[in-house]
Amino acid sequence: MPNVITAEDMDAEVLATYPTDAFLSREYLEAEKRLLWPKVWQMVERLEDLTEVGDWLTYNVAEESVIVIRIAEGDGAEAFNAFHNVCPHRGRQLISVPDGVHSVRGNGRKNFICGFHGWTFNLEGENTYILDPQDWDDKLTPEMTCLSTIKLGIWGGYIYINMDADCEPLAKYMGRAGEILDHFELSKMRYKWRQWAVYPCNWKTAIEAFLEPYHVAGTHTQLLAYGNYYALSKQYGWHSVSSYDTRDTEFKMNESSGTTRAGVGDDPRRSTYELIRENYETINFAASTETLVNAASRLVDELPEGTPPAEVIAHWMKSAKVDDAARGVVWPEIPGEIMAEAGLAWGLFPNQNILHGVTFALCYRVRPYGDDPNKCLFESYALERFPDGEVPQSEWVHAEPTGENWGSVLAQDFSNMEFVQKGMKSSGFRGPMPNPHQEQKVINLHRNLGRMMEGRGAPTKLLP
Ligand code: FES
Ligand SMILES: [Fe+2]
Repeated sequence: MPNVITAEDMDAEVLATYPTDAFLSREYLEAEKRLLWPKVWQMVERLEDLTEVGDWLTYNVAEESVIVIRIAEGDGAEAFNAFHNVCPHRGRQLISVPDGVHSVRGNGRKNFICGFHGWTFNLEGENTYILDPQDWDDKLTPEMTCLSTIKLGIWGGYIYINMDADCEPLAKYMGRAGEILDHFELSKMRYKWRQWAVYPCNWKTAIEAFLEPYHVAGTHTQLLAYGNYYALSKQYGWHSVSSYDTRDTEFKMNESSGTTRAGVGDDPRRSTYELIRENYETINFAASTETLVNAASRLVDELPEGTPPAEVIAHWMKSAKVDDAARGVVWPEIPGEIMAEAGLAWGLFPNQNILHGVTFALCYRVRPYGDDPNKCLFESYALERFPDGEVPQSEWVHAEPTGENWGSVLAQDFSNMEFVQKGMKSSGFRGPMPNPHQEQKVINLHRNLGRMMEGRGAPTKLLP
C-alpha cells in the first residue's frame, strides 16, 4: 500500500494519521487477541519476584493466561518455565484467575494438580498422573497430555514471554533499544513502589498518554515554571525514544540531557534544584532519587553565582555520584554518546514505557481488560538502585486513579485519558493528527500494530 507510513517516512517526519478503530472497535480488540498478544514478546514481571525455586505467578493478557515458575537457581531463561494456564484434559484453567485480579502468585510449588479431575503435572509440564488412563485404551501419549510450553526470555531484570514458538529471539527483538538501555543496568534496580488500576480507556489510549512529552505544556502546566519540554521522538524499529529538544536550531547539537538537566531561569543552581524537586515530589517520588534531589539542593552553596548551566549539571552529577557511592550505590559508567542516544524515555512495543535515569526508572505497562475496548489494566512502578540489604518490600497495590494515590502529575494524565477515549467516538472527529516530530512514538506504535495485525490500523499519509 503506497499510502502506508514506513519507518523512512517517519524519519522524514511525513504527516501521518491512523484509524480510531484501533481504540474503539470490538472487532479490532478481537483481532488483537488473535494476531498481537499470542505473537509478541511481552514483559511478565521483574526477576526479583521469583527468587526461590518453586516461586510462580500468572501473567494475564486479553484472553490469555500464562504460568511462569522458577525451576532452578540463576537469572537466565533456563531457570524458568512458562506454560499456558490450561489443563490439556478439558480445558480448566490450571490456576484459577478470577476477573479483576492483577495476578495470582505463590511459592514452594512442586507440581500442578488440576482442580477438576486431578490430572497432575510436574514443573517441566509433564503429565505425572491421570485417573483411569486405561479408559483411553492407554493410548494417550506424553505429547497429548503435557502442558503447552511457552518461550521465555530475560532482559533488563525482566522476565518476558512469547507464545509464538517461531518468534525471533528476545535480544534481537529488543535490538538497539535493548543495547542502549543495557548501559543503565535496569537489572540492578529494584521496585520502589508499584500500583495498578482498571482505567476506563483502551490500553493504547493509556500508554500513549505516557509516550510523548508534547502534552506536558498543555496538561502539566505547572511544570512550565521549571523547565522547557520541547521534545523530539524517533522510531527504532519496534521501539522508539523521546528526548528533550530545542526549537532553536542554533542549539540543536546539545539536545538530550534526559532526566538530568538544568531548569529554566537565570540561576541554574536554583532552577535545577526546583525542577528536580518539583518532578520528584509530583511524580510520586519516581522521576528522580533522594540522592539527586539532595545533591541539587546543595548547588547554591557549593557553586559560585554565575556558574554556567553545563557546569552546574556536571557538578550536580559528580556530587550525587559520590553521595551514592558512600552509601553503596555505584553508578554505571555510561559513555556520553550512549547518554545522548538514550534520551529521556523509551516506548517498548507493544505496551511498556521506561523513563530511565542512571539510578532509577519510572515505568508503565498497560494491558487490555476483558472484552471491553474501553477499559484497560494500567500499571505504573518506580525502580531504583538500592544499597544491599536496603531494598524496600513492595507488592502490586490496587490504587484508584487519584492524585492522592499516584501523585498530582499522573492525576493530570488520568484526567485526559478517559476523555480522549470518549472524544474519539465523536462523529465530528476527523481522525488523529499526531505531531510527526514530538509524537512519533505514537505513530510508531500504530505502524508496528499494523505490521502485527495484517495491516489493520496502520498509519497512512495525512496528505496525498
Ligand atoms: S480439566 Fe483438568 S483434569 Fe479434567
Ligand atoms: Fe503526562
